[in-house]
Amino acid sequence: MAHLTWTTRTRDGDDPTLPVCLPSDETIDLPPQPAPFVALPAPSERPWLSGFRVEAELGRGSMGRVYRAYDLMRKRAVALKVSSEASADARARVLAEAELQAQLLHPAIPRVLGQGALPDGRGYLLQDLVHGARSLSDAARGARQAHVVLWAARAAEALAEAHGRCVAHGDVKPENLLVDAHGRVFVIDWGVARLGRCERRSSARLSPSLEEFAERQGSWVQGTLAYMPPETLQGHPGPASDVYSLALSMVEAFGGEHPFVRLMDDANRVVKRVLYGPAVCPPAGLQPALGELLRRCLDKDPAARPTSLELAEGLRAFAGGTRPGPLRSRAGA
Ligand SMILES: Nc1ncnc2c1ncn2[C@@H]1O[C@H](COP(=O)(O)OP(=O)(O)O)[C@@H](O)[C@H]1O
Ligand SMILES: [Mg+2]
Repeated sequence: MAHLTWTTRTRDGDDPTLPVCLPSDETIDLPPQPAPFVALPAPSERPWLSGFRVEAELGRGSMGRVYRAYDLMRKRAVALKVSSEASADARARVLAEAELQAQLLHPAIPRVLGQGALPDGRGYLLQDLVHGARSLSDAARGARQAHVVLWAARAAEALAEAHGRCVAHGDVKPENLLVDAHGRVFVIDWGVARLGRCERRSSARLSPSLEEFAERQGSWVQGTLAYMPPETLQGHPGPASDVYSLALSMVEAFGGEHPFVRLMDDANRVVKRVLYGPAVCPPAGLQPALGELLRRCLDKDPAARPTSLELAEGLRAFAGGTRPGPLRSRAGA
């Protein structure tokens, strides 16, 4: 088992008052990998935002595109997410994402730096750039099992911050769990996150017009089919669904492929498998304590799963390291 120690660092170019806990020996141990592909968008496709220079396209998903942009005033790179359409709904979706994400304060959740409408009517969200980002699956290839366990623990802590504010992410999957060049994990894409009702801590809020918009959106099942637990397919996603999806992402990271990879070209077969088939099993060969923890997270009954915080604690206990508080450094560091 890797010996894991923790130290405190600031994110490159970021507010130096915001420390981030890092597994110190993990920042140097990642296998060498080619730099992630970034495309230069054609000038006609490049969004225009005053004060920023759009430099490269970082990725695209169902909601829109994400660009690396340079903040000319603050002299640092940021991530700019732009809705695919200029419709009022597409704009509201990005603004709702920005409002919710802005209320989640955790080092493993990119900070929201701004939001609004571009001159062409598309909605945008400016956030911390995850430098050299790779998806959890890509980062896991060739990484030690202990890295994946710690990334998942960190992601579970970020989800616990959201769950404590009654926000369920709703689309946890390897592409939304980014590992940066230093080996730090970030939970991104809060675009289908939902506000639930809970009595714990203060709930996150949306402005009234976006609240109304979110109500309308809430009647749809949103997210990524391959990572949805049974209750999401039945229209009742919640925090426990995030725990399931994170565990499934770990199963994929450990096993090298999604457990339903051979069903993927037929959505109906995936749905039937999830609803009526046996629960997903962790890959053989995992240490029993880790396999058992994942098996509990993949229970078809959401009430039988551990909470995100229990998952984080279980993973940390498994990794054998001391569990750092979110902003605490190693003694003496
Ligand atoms: N903050 C970020 N830093 C670096 N890359 C990012 C960032 N946010 C998103 N990306 C890249 O853009 C892709 C799509 O972003 P995402 O927010 O998931 O969009 P969508 O909601 O359309 O799925 C991600 O999978 C990732 O590759
Ligand atoms: Mg996404």
